[in-house]
Amino acid sequence: MTGVGIDAVEIRTGKLKLDLAETFADEMGDAPEKYTKGLGLYASSFPDTYEDIVTMGANAAHRLMERKGLDLDDIGRIDVATESAFDHSKPVSTYIGGCLESVFEGDLHHANKGERKFACVSGTQSVDDAYNWIKAGRNRGRAALVIATDTALYARDDPGEATQGAGAVAMLIDEDPDLVELSTDQGYGSADETDFLKPQQQFPSVDGKRSVKVYLARMREALIDYERVGGDIHPDDFRLGPFHTPFPGMVRKAAVLAYRHITRDTEIEDELATEIGRQPRPEGFEDDEAYMEALSEYTDALKETERYQSWYDRTIDPTLDISRHVGNWYTGSVHVARIAGIKALAEAGEDAVGDRLLVGSYGSGAQAEIHVETIKDGWREEIDALDIDEQLEARYDLSFDEYEDVHDAHNFDEESAVEELTVPESEFAFDGWGRMGERKYRYVE
Ligand code: HMG
Repeated sequence: MTGVGIDAVEIRTGKLKLDLAETFADEMGDAPEKYTKGLGLYASSFPDTYEDIVTMGANAAHRLMERKGLDLDDIGRIDVATESAFDHSKPVSTYIGGCLESVFEGDLHHANKGERKFACVSGTQSVDDAYNWIKAGRNRGRAALVIATDTALYARDDPGEATQGAGAVAMLIDEDPDLVELSTDQGYGSADETDFLKPQQQFPSVDGKRSVKVYLARMREALIDYERVGGDIHPDDFRLGPFHTPFPGMVRKAAVLAYRHITRDTEIEDELATEIGRQPRPEGFEDDEAYMEALSEYTDALKETERYQSWYDRTIDPTLDISRHVGNWYTGSVHVARIAGIKALAEAGEDAVGDRLLVGSYGSGAQAEIHVETIKDGWREEIDALDIDEQLEARYDLSFDEYEDVHDAHNFDEESAVEELTVPESEFAFDGWGRMGERKYRYVE
């Protein structure tokens, strides 16, 4: 069998924008730099009142299918990854399938549909499921649609409020992919954690500071587990490192720890030794506390070296280009990071065919997954077809009062009479409630 991977991708952002530095910071009594420099975020995307996880996912999938010239018979599976679902039984993929059936000839009765849950990592898990389905030969020549879609809202005044976002990523998983081929090598770091959860509630309960530590710990485990199958990683092995990006500052913290790990016992550690010494080893210390302190000092020094900074600028920073302007999209976040990184290669005019990506996915609760992908021949055309820059540019810039109304409009426990702020055009839109409490949608020409 030929390789399997992501053949095509589309991103759909919520059509509203909250400017964090200009609009949010002042109302929160914060310096704008807390957002732009500390968290690394400039803006969040929000859904208008007629947008939700279904419309964003269906709009992304619709554009993808039209662009690739697909019809419904070409799709054998639709998996939606989300942590913003509004129904405990009927999966979001059935709603999205219904939307697609309303605009394409034929139907999706032959397609296996489902919904994946494990916080933000379920987008990658759905890609893995689709990969396995195709590799097992159960796809009967059809491709899988994986849609990661979320309205990542926090309760008002929760520290997480600054990291909100909303959007969807649709990915076509198929044989002989145009964009990236997935490898079989994977590593996991998974543990029962209580850092971010939504027990029968819309907005998460979050222990924010702890969630940062859990992210780093699970990601480290996944890296070590990956090395058991993929062998030791060297920084030069990978052109890009797209990571789950709840906010760019999180990836900044993870990247230096990853770099320290993958340069250990390499010529890079030797070369840096004259400048910052060698990495501390536990056997050189009397107790764990002294070792950890030395490790933290080494990491701070490493961060300042030119060698690290140029690796970070080349491998990590380009993957944050979109996240900075949209916030956390939960399940879609790592997939946005992949696209941002590859898009930067296209803009720099690089020939990226054969370049490898080290992809770090993460979900609270908690699980990290590390895997490798290789850029394929059709990558350039796929990336050039994206219209994400135009979408970001066209977003409606919310005032703070409007932001409060829109947050209420998407809060299941609030009544809000707020009107839509943008006009739906050539897209699926929420169209009210049905007799059994189901959500209804229509395609607006
Ligand atoms: P906070 O307490 O509001 O912010 O919450 P802070 O005071 O920690 O400041 C943030 C950063 O800005 C700090 O940088 C400050 O120093 C800096 P750091 O020290 O960490 O490097 N700062 C400034 N910098 C420059 N100039 C200034 C300035 N002021 C402050 N004037 C927190 C931060 C992340 C806790 C909060 O946003 C939160 O709770 N977020 C939600 C949870 C989250 O995103 N966790 C990330 C890991 S878990 C994850 O990724 C999973 C997730 O996506 C969910 C899922 O899987 O489903 C969330």
